[in-house]
Amino acid sequence: MNGSVPGGPGGEAIPSCAPGQQERRELLHVDCASHVYPDGTRGIHELCFRVYEGEIVALCGPNGAGKSTLIEHLNGLLQPSSGRVTVLGKETGGKGGAELWRFVGVVFQRSDDQLFAPTVLDDVMFGPLNLGLPPDQATRRARDALAAVGAPDLEAKMPAYLSGGQKRLVAIAGILAMDPLIIAFDEPTSDLDPVHGAVIEGIIRDLRDRRGKSVVLATHDLDLASRIADRVCLVKGGSLIADGSPREIFYNQDLLKAAGLLEPAPVRFFRDLCREYGIETTDRPLTLEEISRSPVFSRYGEGSGRKKLE
Ligand SMILES: Nc1ncnc2c1ncn2[C@@H]1O[C@H](COP(=O)(O)OP(=O)(O)O)[C@@H](O)[C@H]1O
Ligand SMILES: [Mg+2]
Repeated sequence: MNGSVPGGPGGEAIPSCAPGQQERRELLHVDCASHVYPDGTRGIHELCFRVYEGEIVALCGPNGAGKSTLIEHLNGLLQPSSGRVTVLGKETGGKGGAELWRFVGVVFQRSDDQLFAPTVLDDVMFGPLNLGLPPDQATRRARDALAAVGAPDLEAKMPAYLSGGQKRLVAIAGILAMDPLIIAFDEPTSDLDPVHGAVIEGIIRDLRDRRGKSVVLATHDLDLASRIADRVCLVKGGSLIADGSPREIFYNQDLLKAAGLLEPAPVRFFRDLCREYGIETTDRPLTLEEISRSPVFSRYGEGSGRKKLE
């Protein structure tokens, strides 16, 4: 991918905010930002990160790497102690920066932090009303957003009594109703069962493919990132140590090890299989489906169809 900067195997931070070379429009730029919490803990350190139009970019790193701290800088909830964050060229801490939450919506890891109104509909309407829309339009936006996440039947419920998966859907609807350019998800599937996880994954894909949104996905679930991300950034010790395509990053074992991560399960499976059978290949499948279509196995599909791997 253009503009990718794979980090060194030592996991050293990418040293500077080199100009982005992507053909897509740059929407957001975290320019060498650091954040020190009041107790002196370093959340992020001289971190450089960009978001482009219409992409899903995954921020991958182990617990404590700085993913959530970075996410909270994207809509100005946190301000950098040094460096700056710009959205559409405007600094989040500068004049007019207070308005930038309109362009960047954040779905927090704990949905309880986001839901507070007496009913689901009130909750999802809150954003559009805050944008200044009249109540009838805000209601329409909220209902459309609840339909988009497949939860129109929840509108009269009390948020406190929803299941974890339902709360996450409502929290996403609340952000969708504001129609931001960028939606950042902090560990969106970490506490969900596989069925709800798959629903959220489908919603994230749809945001990019059908609504043209940019999505930032903070996750330590590399299997999820390998399925849906267009670009992967590895975060370690508060800094970005790599920025590249999923195939570049997830097939670089040294880099993943340096970041404190394990390769996605399909990558590990494919690599082990090739090693076991002595297969040399430059193919880099990321999903089980891609593995099943790998040229490595094409000779087994010749002729009448199914043949056993001997
Ligand atoms: N409110 C806070 N006060 C002090 N330290 C914090 C706070 N929030 C996060 N940290 C620290 O900042 C670092 C990065 O944390 P975080 O951004 O939550 O990482 P991640 O989301 O990747 O798990 C960690 O060392 C964490 O302990
Ligand atoms: Mg986190």
